[in-house]
Amino acid sequence: MSRKTTSDLWWKNAVVYCLDVATFFDSDGDGCGDFVGLTERVDYLRGLGVNCLWLMPFYPSPNRDDGYDIVDFYGVDERLGTLGDLVELIRTARDRGIRVIADFVVNHTSDQHPWFRSACESRDSPYRDFYVWKDEKPDEQPGDVVFPDQEDSNWAWNEQAGQFYLHRFYSHQPDLNIANPEVRDEMAQIMGFWLNLGLSGFRVDAVPFLIEPIGLPEGAVVEPHELLRDLRAYLNRRNGEAILLGEVNLPPEEQRTFVGGEDGDELHMLFDFVGNQAMYLSLARGDATPLRETLRAAPALPHIASMARFVRNHDELTLDKLTDDERQEVFARFGADAGMQLYGRGLRRRLPPMLDGDEAAIRMTYSLAFALPGAAVLFYGEEIGMGENLAIDGRLAVRSPMQWSAERHGGFSLVEDPDDLVRPVTDGAFGPRHVNATALRRDPDSLLNWFERLIRRRRESPEIGFGTLTLLDVEAAPSVLAHRCDWRGSTIVAVHELGGNAVEVQLPVDDGEALVDVSTGEEHSLPATLALPRYGARWLRVRRAGQRLPP
Ligand code: NOJ
Repeated sequence: MSRKTTSDLWWKNAVVYCLDVATFFDSDGDGCGDFVGLTERVDYLRGLGVNCLWLMPFYPSPNRDDGYDIVDFYGVDERLGTLGDLVELIRTARDRGIRVIADFVVNHTSDQHPWFRSACESRDSPYRDFYVWKDEKPDEQPGDVVFPDQEDSNWAWNEQAGQFYLHRFYSHQPDLNIANPEVRDEMAQIMGFWLNLGLSGFRVDAVPFLIEPIGLPEGAVVEPHELLRDLRAYLNRRNGEAILLGEVNLPPEEQRTFVGGEDGDELHMLFDFVGNQAMYLSLARGDATPLRETLRAAPALPHIASMARFVRNHDELTLDKLTDDERQEVFARFGADAGMQLYGRGLRRRLPPMLDGDEAAIRMTYSLAFALPGAAVLFYGEEIGMGENLAIDGRLAVRSPMQWSAERHGGFSLVEDPDDLVRPVTDGAFGPRHVNATALRRDPDSLLNWFERLIRRRRESPEIGFGTLTLLDVEAAPSVLAHRCDWRGSTIVAVHELGGNAVEVQLPVDDGEALVDVSTGEEHSLPATLALPRYGARWLRVRRAGQRLPP
């Protein structure tokens, strides 16, 4: 790839920040965050250095799944402000060099959506065929249900309609019928609408569920991936820089098919669920092997596509791709208490409490995620080390309000009564008195200021975003993951200690080369022996004879 195309492929070196407008910053004192509040805080995000903002669903919704249950794809939830406020936010963010993308949730609608209401009313409704119906409940496989604590089937009976309808998630989220060309047209039109208002793409929700032809008549869908190819072609006809970042939690070979063929004509990016889970297993064991093996086995992607690396997201930390024994190891280390676990497959926790607040371990984990090729994705509050609030139900435990200061309600809202807050603020050791953006900004050694430096380094390291990954052999130190990223004659070597023990590693470096620590400038020449403290993390640039390195 030529140096000149890097800004065209901006997503490959992006640092993405995910937030829910409702829990970020409340400007008008009603207890709920809003677009105006977020716009006031865009400079905070600019200061942090992120260049893409991912907004969780902001559409009108009964909020039975925190906005992932939509009643109008063309509007905004009035608690958050107006469409005008959103456009101002997008414009302000763009002015600060931040592109905005948003959740695109079209596997299903809310059961309150006018399409579904009309569909239930009569078999002759023009919207009846927008959903998937059956007279008899089809057979199901164990494990097909996504939220087993709430649902026991993917088919629910609707009395008014007199039929069963398909719902892969909650029964209040009926699945759309992708075999219906009008539904597909509507999906494209929704994308077009938001692109015209200034969005730079979408985080596509539940992609495998979206394209699966479950419950459809034989032959109704020719090829499930065709829908993705069509949406992608439409998206990039409308806007050449717009991206699709997909939620595809599948085994690597299957996941790979979602970016399309050699020329990458489906999703631009895939969240790295499998690598994420392997990383937690490695951390639990203090042994880098599971992560190393997973990275080694990862299928190559077309040059236009990328992985999106993350440490935590807004859902439970799913461990569904580990074996039962491996999952138990991670549970034992990071959430032995049953109240921290969810659906038998995940943890409803944020990273810092899982690591008992061990700041060296926290920094090393993010440094590692940011050193792997692909975009880096942060969930709001990670940069200040927020913890979860287990008093909040289920997955929402990690979606408590952003902690801006030590003031009342963590400076999130001026509302009087805590019961009027959209969600309770976290308390205890990870609450705003101990963890807040204001205090951390003032301390040069804080996690927040460290994150700013990490993100700056990352954005200045095209080798990581665009380069090729090679795992380095440091088998004498099993707790260490060492890798290099090469891009156009430039190399970053990254070394991370995952076991919590100081170690020495011998790094393979060629004659005539030296390694220069990108943070400290310290030089290591041959033989490159590196002393790493417990949970040490180093990014080094290879200096070749006659080469001038970036500052
Ligand atoms: C995946 C989202 O991440 C999750 O939060 C949501 O509940 C489901 N999709 C259904 O939209």
